[in-house]
Amino acid sequence: MNFRAVFIAIVIGTALIVSAFVINSLRPAIVVGQPNVDLVKASGKCAECHRNNQYSIVHEYEMSKHATKGVTCLDCHQVATGQTGTNHNGFVINSGVTPANCKTCHAAVYDQFVRSRHAAPSWVAVVGNQDFSPEMIEQMEKLHPGSMKRPGHPLTKIEGESAAKSGCITCHAIGKPNADGTIGNCTLCHTRHTSSVELARMPSTCGQCHLGPDHSQIEIYTQSKHGIIFAAQKDLLNLKAPSDSLTTKDMFIPTCATCHMSGLNGSGVTHDPSERLSYNLFAEVTTLRPNADRAQDKMKHICLQCHTPPLVDRIYKEGAAVVDATNEKVLAAKSIMDALKAEGLLSTNAFSMPIQFTYFDLWHYYGRTAKHAAFMGGADYVQWHGNYPILEQTVELKEQAAQLRRENAK
Ligand code: HEC
Ligand code: HEC
Ligand code: HEC
Ligand code: HEC
Ligand code: HEC
Ligand code: HEC
Ligand code: HEC
Ligand code: HEC
Repeated sequence: MNFRAVFIAIVIGTALIVSAFVINSLRPAIVVGQPNVDLVKASGKCAECHRNNQYSIVHEYEMSKHATKGVTCLDCHQVATGQTGTNHNGFVINSGVTPANCKTCHAAVYDQFVRSRHAAPSWVAVVGNQDFSPEMIEQMEKLHPGSMKRPGHPLTKIEGESAAKSGCITCHAIGKPNADGTIGNCTLCHTRHTSSVELARMPSTCGQCHLGPDHSQIEIYTQSKHGIIFAAQKDLLNLKAPSDSLTTKDMFIPTCATCHMSGLNGSGVTHDPSERLSYNLFAEVTTLRPNADRAQDKMKHICLQCHTPPLVDRIYKEGAAVVDATNEKVLAAKSIMDALKAEGLLSTNAFSMPIQFTYFDLWHYYGRTAKHAAFMGGADYVQWHGNYPILEQTVELKEQAAQLRRENAK
């Protein structure tokens, strides 16, 4: 064997080893990154079977970042702490995927989410606080005063179980407690298998719940400058940009997520959309929240990634003026209701007299709408869907009060 033959053999041998290594490193992590054979096959076997009958579900998963990063079907569908398992075609799967599964990989996101009003407070708002531990109630009450120590909403009883289940509870399940001890539902925003930031950043994703006369955020946004430009230019945005490196070059027009959640230009992404809010605009009479200054600075910091301080300060000043004026109008109407109550002319049953609806609509529909719209660029909603009906309902309320007193005098 001459030197040339040995040299060639070594070169070929090295090339084989290197290429084997390269090929192996190119194999998907689904195949190489799993602790045992069953898990290696997890996605393949599940997908093979489910593709036949649930093509769409498997396809959504295949387009997700989870699939490209090697997160398998079983990574979400396996049994997490607190869950029970079911035998399923050679696998043990959980009886329902909850945040307990997501948080095995996204713990920090879950912790932020749980602090928000999207979690426990949104459930308590409908059914009351009996589903939460005393510690949880204390902890959340401190973060969001008035959010936990209250009874369920009277409308759920009056309208009946089927209405509450398919109505209130479907939206407010964003904070429903799960049997495994976790709270809420990540898939109401991310869907079950798409799991993309792109979808979560679309205004329509938030608008599935944030709509209608009592919280017209999607309507307000759609007719604001931001919404108009978004509709025209959304294809020019990089909606897929990773959360931790999102810049104004990706998102030069804001959606709901940009203002309330995204970490634009390094300003810190959050799953607690309460963090940047200084007022409780949803309340009958709006007050500042605890830490209002810090929250307002955080939101203004987001505006300032795209705007100059004079514009942003002007919007906040005009918004504050609408809050004050709306509070005055609501308090004037409330004093009429309080007087009727003192005179014994109001039923103690909620929603049983026309005047109770007039007052409820006044603050719950039109008062809220005017306040929300003032901060989010909705002129028509401050005026024709806000202040005009407030005026109309005030006249109506006074007439109804006079009528009650006339009837009582008879
Ligand atoms: C051999 C075919 C087959 C395999 C393999 C398979 N499944 Fe299924 N799966 C089904 C069928 C069929 C159903 C509908 C069950 C029914 O009708 O009760 C189903 C139902 C489900 C459901 C809904 C259960 C419910 O109660 O709502 C989930 C979730 C699920 N499969 C996940 C998986 C996961 C995850 C894997 C892999 C770990 C997997 N499946 C592997 C055939 C399969
Ligand atoms: C990101 C986590 C995640 C991954 C990954 C995932 N699933 Fe799911 N899957 C869910 C959630 C959440 C639900 C709804 C809750 C439940 O029923 O458990 C669900 C429900 C299902 C259902 C019932 C759906 C229906 O509409 O009836 C099937 C079937 C299913 N998954 C199959 C799969 C298969 C097959 C894969 C892999 C190709 C997969 N899942 C990967 C989270 C996931
Ligand atoms: C086994 C770990 C694991 C589980 C379980 C898991 N994920 Fe993920 N998730 C990942 C990884 C890894 C990424 C990709 C992170 C990266 O590199 O950007 C990711 C990314 C995401 C993204 C961002 C996608 C994008 O477009 O950038 C979302 C949203 C997400 N996961 C939601 C969920 C939800 C909701 C659940 C539960 C239903 C869940 N994940 C369960 C590991 C997991
Ligand atoms: C499944 C329904 C649902 C979806 C989807 C949803 N929300 Fe909400 N959101 C709620 C409910 C219910 C509340 C009221 C919680 C409470 O105060 O009781 C709420 C409250 C809020 C609040 C006010 C929080 C506070 O502290 O007062 C903000 C801001 C918010 N959501 C932003 C968003 C954004 C941004 C999106 C989309 C990325 C979104 N929401 C998607 C149901 C939803
Ligand atoms: C379409 C989805 C949807 C339905 C249906 C719905 N809500 Fe809400 N609810 C929301 C959203 C979104 C908010 C947040 C509004 C805001 O902060 O501006 C909210 C806010 C609230 C609030 C004020 C926040 C708080 O914690 O006090 C209460 C109370 C409430 N809802 C109770 C109910 C009740 C009771 C029902 C049924 C009679 C119901 N909701 C039906 C989406 C919904
Ligand atoms: C109110 C809607 C909403 C809910 C509920 C929600 N997310 Fe998100 N999520 C978003 C939005 C919007 C983004 C993109 C933020 C941005 O623009 O970067 C996001 C981004 C993410 C990301 C990528 C960014 C990161 O911080 O790693 C992950 C992972 C994620 N969500 C997981 C979850 C999990 C797990 C849950 C449940 C505990 C959850 N999400 C609940 C709206 C939501
Ligand atoms: C340009 C930024 C921006 C956009 C885009 C935006 N918002 Fe807002 N939003 C605000 C500001 C500012 C406030 C009031 C902040 C405060 O209280 O200090 C607000 C208030 C809210 C509130 C009121 C919470 C309460 O106190 O009752 C909700 C809910 C909300 N926004 C949801 C949404 C939804 C849903 C979308 C998209 C359809 C959206 N926002 C789009 C900036 C924005
Ligand atoms: C991601 C960038 C971005 C963010 C964040 C953002 N905006 Fe804008 N905004 C724009 C763009 C772009 C326009 C259209 C600018 C133009 O025509 O010069 C606009 C327009 C406006 C206008 C209409 C100006 C006019 O007279 O035509 C107002 C008011 C406004 N924004 C307020 C705000 C407030 C308040 C915030 C924060 C709560 C905010 N914006 C957050 C990008 C942003």
